[in-house]
Amino acid sequence: MSKVLLTGVTLAAMLGMAGNSYAQESTDSVQASTATSHPEEVIAARQALMFEIERLMVPVDSATLGPPADFEVLNSAALSISAMLSAVPHLFPPPTNLYDPAVEIPATIALPAIWSDFETFSAMADASTTAAASLSQASASGAQAVQAASLSLRATCDACHSLFLRPYVPATVNSEDLEFDFDSVLPGN
Ligand code: HEC
Repeated sequence: MSKVLLTGVTLAAMLGMAGNSYAQESTDSVQASTATSHPEEVIAARQALMFEIERLMVPVDSATLGPPADFEVLNSAALSISAMLSAVPHLFPPPTNLYDPAVEIPATIALPAIWSDFETFSAMADASTTAAASLSQASASGAQAVQAASLSLRATCDACHSLFLRPYVPATVNSEDLEFDFDSVLPGN
C-alpha cells in the first residue's frame, strides 16, 4: 500500500471525526471552539486538503488524455482522493464564511453561496467522492472506462468550483501600462 493512500485515509478519518461533532450540535466544546475561535485554522486545513487533492490529480488528468501509464498508481490516487473529498462538507462550518471581496488576497475564496445552499454544496462533494471511487473501480473495465471516469472526476471538481469559488479575474492591461516608458528602466539611458 502506498504512502499517499495511507496519508489520505488517515487525514480523512481525522477530519471526518472533527466534522461529525459539528453536525451533531456537539457538546464537545474543544471541537466546536476550533471553528468559532480559530476559523482560519479550519480554512487552512481545507485549503491544504484541496492542494493535496490537486497534486494527486496528476495521474488522473493524464488518464483523460490517453491510457494510464500505471493503473496501480491511478487506482491508489483515486482511492485517496475519494477519502479526502468525503471530508470536504465537514470543513465548511458557518464561522468559516469569511470571504472578503475587497481584499486582493483573501483568507478564503469560498463564496457565501456555500452556506446559503449547503445542501447543493454537500451533494456536489458527495458526487465528487463517488466519481473518485468509481474511477478506482474503472480500471477493471479497461482503458476507455478509465478515461471516461477520469474526465467525470475532473468535471465534478470544476462544477463545484464554478458555483462556489471566487471567479478567477485575469489581470487586465490599462492605458497607463500601454504608455509605460520601457526605455526609462532599461540600462544605458
Ligand atoms: C463541493 C465543492 C468542491 C469540490 C467537489 C472540489 N472542491 Fe476544490 N475547492 C472548493 C472550495 C470551496 C475551495 C476554496 C477553499 C477556501 O479557500 O477556503 C476549493 C479550493 C481548491 C483549490 C485551491 C484553489 C485556490 O486557488 O486556492 C484547489 C487546487 C482545489 N480546490 C482542487 C480541487 C480538485 C482537484 C477537486 C476534485 C478532485 C476539487 N477541488 C473538488 C470546493 C470544492
